[in-house]
Amino acid sequence: MQHPSPTLAPVRLASGLRARDAWPLDAEIVHLNHGSFGAVPTEVLRHQEALRAEADRSPVGWFPRIAERVAEARHATAPFVGAHGDDSAFVPNASAAATVIYNSLRLEADDEVLVTDHGYGAITMGAARLARRFGARVRTVRIPLLAEGDEVVDLFRQALGARTRLIVVDQITSSTARQLPTAQITALAREHGIRVLVDAAHAPGLIADAAAVGGGDWWFGNMHKWPCAPRGSALLVTTAADRQDLWPLIDSWGASEGYPERFDTQGTIDATTYISTPVALDFIEREYTWARTRETMRTLADHGARMIADAVQPYVVDEALVPLPMPVDGMRLIRLPDGLGKTREEADDLRMTLFDRVGVETAFTSFEGRGYYRLSVHLYTEVSDFEAYVERCIPEILRAAEAAAS
Ligand SMILES: Cc1ncc(COP(=O)(O)O)c(C=O)c1O
Repeated sequence: MQHPSPTLAPVRLASGLRARDAWPLDAEIVHLNHGSFGAVPTEVLRHQEALRAEADRSPVGWFPRIAERVAEARHATAPFVGAHGDDSAFVPNASAAATVIYNSLRLEADDEVLVTDHGYGAITMGAARLARRFGARVRTVRIPLLAEGDEVVDLFRQALGARTRLIVVDQITSSTARQLPTAQITALAREHGIRVLVDAAHAPGLIADAAAVGGGDWWFGNMHKWPCAPRGSALLVTTAADRQDLWPLIDSWGASEGYPERFDTQGTIDATTYISTPVALDFIEREYTWARTRETMRTLADHGARMIADAVQPYVVDEALVPLPMPVDGMRLIRLPDGLGKTREEADDLRMTLFDRVGVETAFTSFEGRGYYRLSVHLYTEVSDFEAYVERCIPEILRAAEAAAS
């Protein structure tokens, strides 16, 4: 079907509904941080509520058949990331996927795990714990914010050592909102017999066929971020020869099965997040299509980032809108005035200050001691949200910068 080119008018869905009205987001709050926690459309929530009601009406009718429903859902979900259901397992979130993988690995003393300075803190801490368990080391590959893809691969080439066994790298980085060339890094690693874990928490929905193009011995992505599934839904994908070493965090009756089937049964849990995931994918495909969603997010993100960057430019030395190589469709990075967001904790505090004081949901990040606003947009974002950010947040940000300087 031919669609009109994207417009900055509020998105209308095929059903005629304004996109904003298809999400239950509080109209009193400005929502410009989809990336951190996602947002679930009302129709998907209703479906999940109906499933929960079904479970409550007849626990015996529901729980003994969960595994079949979860298996069906993973077969329906995997193609969305370009994967096969037989290679995919549902886990509650990206952190769980990393834990499952780390738990399966054995290292020798003095082996080395490479991470990057763009990595997600919790996943990097997990790599450090893995290394500690075996007396191995973690080394950080420093990647300049504006490094092009080839440069990133070269940095990895230079970083590989005789004892490097594992690389942990993001397909889309959290604090810097850019892609890294994970497929090329995987190809390089394979030449040296090194394994690669691709943290693709942000990739499903933002990158078409994300697992197929992301590389890695193991790949995982959150379905509760950009695909808008209920929270507690992520997909782990692997064809690794040793994937039978992967065990769910909850070791239950599935234990007698192989990968991935053993992940379909995890005791008495609320599996409606997994079972509702295909409903979220179908909702956006039916109402707007995923291809057009990405195109619209890109247009909205460019427009909003320009507006916000122009407003903040007089107060920052460098170009306010960071000209990221390998950008993604739904996010942009805008510099904060000097002195703000020097650490992750300071950036997080600023987020809560703005939320409490002016009712705007934002995400601030910190990289190399400097602070950034990470703008996120989705179908429900409207130009008035950017205007509200400029009007309400910039004065607060300037006040905070003054306080930090004094
Ligand atoms: C790159 C990256 N990895 C891992 C995570 C953790 O995701 P979760 O909290 O769903 O486990 C995030 C969350 O934002 C992330 O951005």
